[in-house]
Amino acid sequence: MKSIVLSIGGSVILSEGADVSFFRKLASLLKKISKQYKIFIIVGGGNVARKYIKLGRDLRFDEKILDSIGIYITRVNAKILTNIIEESNKDIPCTTSEAIDIDKPIIVMGGTTPGHSTDMVGAEIAEKTGADLFIIATNVDGIYDKDPNKYPDAKQLKEVKIDQLIERYGIKWKSAGKNVVIDGPALEIIKRAELATYVVNGKRLDQLEKALTNQSFDGTKITI
Ligand code: UTP
Repeated sequence: MKSIVLSIGGSVILSEGADVSFFRKLASLLKKISKQYKIFIIVGGGNVARKYIKLGRDLRFDEKILDSIGIYITRVNAKILTNIIEESNKDIPCTTSEAIDIDKPIIVMGGTTPGHSTDMVGAEIAEKTGADLFIIATNVDGIYDKDPNKYPDAKQLKEVKIDQLIERYGIKWKSAGKNVVIDGPALEIIKRAELATYVVNGKRLDQLEKALTNQSFDGTKITI
């Protein structure tokens, strides 16, 4: 069976409006898609992770410890998400190999090791499984020419070349809790594995469904 990898930001799971009905609708969308594709979902840490990382940074913890604190939070979020889905694993795998070996229609996990974000975990699984699509579901409508949360005149990009993103963000991991649309190590894999990658607003389930089913959606396509 073909597979799709969905990296879903913690900010989507824990955002305002992410209420019981949002979770139910998301679960039923995933169930529908899982009839056609095996789905790997990697859940991010969102603001909760950033709050703990800030506390640790104020306490002068080193970067590896800060990353591992973030990883714990991503796994808590993964635990929440997986328990609203019937057809998924209930124990959260800690590595991509473990996740790939799980025989379920939907596999949910969080982070793995320090030094990158959950986007990179998603890219790694997409590369290893030869996934048809890698979807990054975030809390804005795709990639913009500048940060839309800071600049109201930021323009959404319908398509962007991977090399432009690498030029803008680099391929190195910067620091724990860094809030960029896609982290550098993930960009490096997207380029290397030539992954078909879409960035979409995960809170807009109609658009997420369109992206998952490869129809035209309001978001950004990354071209290689
Ligand atoms: P996220 O994947 O949520 O990173 O992991 P992010 O980009 O900061 O946030 P959103 O959710 O996409 O908005 C939270 C933090 O956990 C650590 C990193 O420090 C990351 O910033 N982490 C996560 C790892 O070190 N390794 C992983 O595999 C995952």
